[in-house]
Amino acid sequence: MTDFKRYLVTAALPYANGPVHIGHLSGCYIPADIYVRYQRARKQDIQFICGSDEHGVPITIRAMKEGVTPQEIVDKYHAFMGKSFEEMGISFDIYSRTSNKIHHETAAGFFKKLYDEGLFEEKETEQYFDEKANTFLADRYIIGTCPVCGNENAYGDQCERCGSTLSPEQLINPRSALSDAVPVKRKTKHWYFPLQNYEPWLKEWILEGHKEWKNNVYGQCKSWLDSGLQSRAMTRDSNWGVKVPLPGAEGKVLYVWFDAPIGYISATKELTDKWADYWQQSDTKLVHFIGKDNIVFHCIIFPAMLKAHGNYVLPDNVPANEFLNLEGEKISTSRNWAVWVHEYLNDFPDQQDVLRYVLCSNAPETKDNDFTWKDFQDRNNSELVSIFGNFVNRTFVLMHKLCGGKVPNLHADVADKTDENMIAEFEATKTRVENLLEQYKFRDALFEVIDLSRKGNKYMQEKEPWIVAKSLADNPEKQKLIDNCLHICLQLTANLAVLINPFLPFTAKKMLHMMKVVEKMLDWENAGKAKLLSVGYSLREPQLLFRKIEDTEVQAQISKLEANRIKPASTQSEAVKNAKPDAKGSEAKEQPVTSNQKPEIVYDDFGKIDLKVGTILSAEKVAKADKLLKLEVDLGFEKRTIVSGIALHFKPEDIVGKQVVVVTNLAPRKMKGIESNGMILMAEDKAGKLHFVSPGTKIDEGSGVS
Ligand code: 2FM
Ligand code: ZN
Repeated sequence: MTDFKRYLVTAALPYANGPVHIGHLSGCYIPADIYVRYQRARKQDIQFICGSDEHGVPITIRAMKEGVTPQEIVDKYHAFMGKSFEEMGISFDIYSRTSNKIHHETAAGFFKKLYDEGLFEEKETEQYFDEKANTFLADRYIIGTCPVCGNENAYGDQCERCGSTLSPEQLINPRSALSDAVPVKRKTKHWYFPLQNYEPWLKEWILEGHKEWKNNVYGQCKSWLDSGLQSRAMTRDSNWGVKVPLPGAEGKVLYVWFDAPIGYISATKELTDKWADYWQQSDTKLVHFIGKDNIVFHCIIFPAMLKAHGNYVLPDNVPANEFLNLEGEKISTSRNWAVWVHEYLNDFPDQQDVLRYVLCSNAPETKDNDFTWKDFQDRNNSELVSIFGNFVNRTFVLMHKLCGGKVPNLHADVADKTDENMIAEFEATKTRVENLLEQYKFRDALFEVIDLSRKGNKYMQEKEPWIVAKSLADNPEKQKLIDNCLHICLQLTANLAVLINPFLPFTAKKMLHMMKVVEKMLDWENAGKAKLLSVGYSLREPQLLFRKIEDTEVQAQISKLEANRIKPASTQSEAVKNAKPDAKGSEAKEQPVTSNQKPEIVYDDFGKIDLKVGTILSAEKVAKADKLLKLEVDLGFEKRTIVSGIALHFKPEDIVGKQVVVVTNLAPRKMKGIESNGMILMAEDKAGKLHFVSPGTKIDEGSGVS
């Protein structure tokens, strides 16, 4: 284990083309902020880096749609997003932007060094060009009919209906998503980074050296590495971006995924003269917080670039989260199915910590998760208000009522085992929280803090100082029991402030105010201590930390979501035209939502389909197709090979032995060179998750389905 001297924490640079929503916060900004606040409280030398990603196709598309320049788009959203982050207490040391001069110089310099060392391959290829919009088209912006399933709105890199990985050349009747024009082929030269040259090193570094990475991250890396890496173009034809610093490269810019991660370096340069210590000293712990769609870029491509360049540290960890859904559906900026942070702050002023709390306790750390307004209300009312807030409030109210508003003494002569056990929990909780935070398990860590306040409530309930107070007239000695209880509850409150601070910094501040102590008390070393507040010190009146959230408030949010939902457009071109700004540039990746109601058919049509029950005998990933699994299926009368677009939903090892329904009389079709002989029926739920259609109990293979 390296003994790290300093920390460099980055959070994905969001595209500056739309407001921040809860998916962004839960995916990376809240966990990153918790981690950084915790390390700062531990007095670690740390820098927290972020900024706007201002290049790339999503920005130019938005500019085109709004009829303004890309610069105008990024200026508007950079400021807007920065404000949302700040208001939510995301404590970046810098929120920079990739249109800054320093970034252009740094990224161009990085490219030039690799070029000078002969590390790029120069290739001329033919690419699709939109003559109407006068631009080359990224694969995502070419639409056509899927050769596999006939979907008329398949993208140039993927068919969302059947899951096939495609190239624009495979689309039937390709058209531009920008103008509907039929794209033409044009020759163009680009510089490719031969990732395959770094494959052995990446395998060693990740698969052997970083087994501790989260399963979702390690698994995705392994699957990329097992499928084999290929050269990737690191330049694009565009006028928006970092210019390729080579003679004769007019009209060409760096690929946005080449320049954006270098943005972490340029932002650090902008922040501090000591930037090289953070980036170039091997005792720096570099941690990238990202969402799952960014894993390959941060774990494979950027590290390979850093390795090729030399002189830079590599990430020690990349704790990526999965996705957050909203009310059972994918968050979609194009359909306006999102909770926008600026709107939340408007509707729930001063309630930042409630959102931080819910998004952390429900974070998609190991799998996709769902945000619902009902859950938001429940967690606020039954955890923050009823447990944490209630404990702190009762402690302060009773201390004012029974101890004259001052921290009472701890009388050793009447202290008992219950008191001792309660005090022992301070240190034990601190240790557990620390261990969990060091492992990026933020949900569990937060649970421990809430659990400590739950234990505080239980302790107080056992001690019942308000009942003891009733017998004081008969036995004044009993004041000692009251004192002990409230002394311990107050020390516990101080501990809770330290422990909750990384998660809910606004709440910790309020607690400091009530305890009349300075920010220094929140230093992490104070957690676990039983003597944080001095005996005799007078404290303020309690101030409610959280308020109840009413049914009407959450109902209003649900109605607002439904009312503002944008119905899917019938073609992608319209969808692109109508799209709301998208901070992750992901609207084109989302599945259109339709009722899927197809035209009526007659019985004979249905009768032509041969459906049989089969059992999956084996399953394996298809090389170079992240969506496809190759299955061997036992149909009783024969065994079939079927290629199915379900690899993102199921692990091969989990589905062996499953019974499925197979369309057995479909004409064979080749996918990635493998002949597929049939199709497995799947049901798709509202969140886009696939489920097998299977008989209720195990039955013979080959049984008919009708
Ligand atoms: O997915 C996104 O929103 C990208 N803009 C993230 C970039 S992260 C980094 F590389 F800058
Ligand atoms: Zn298809």
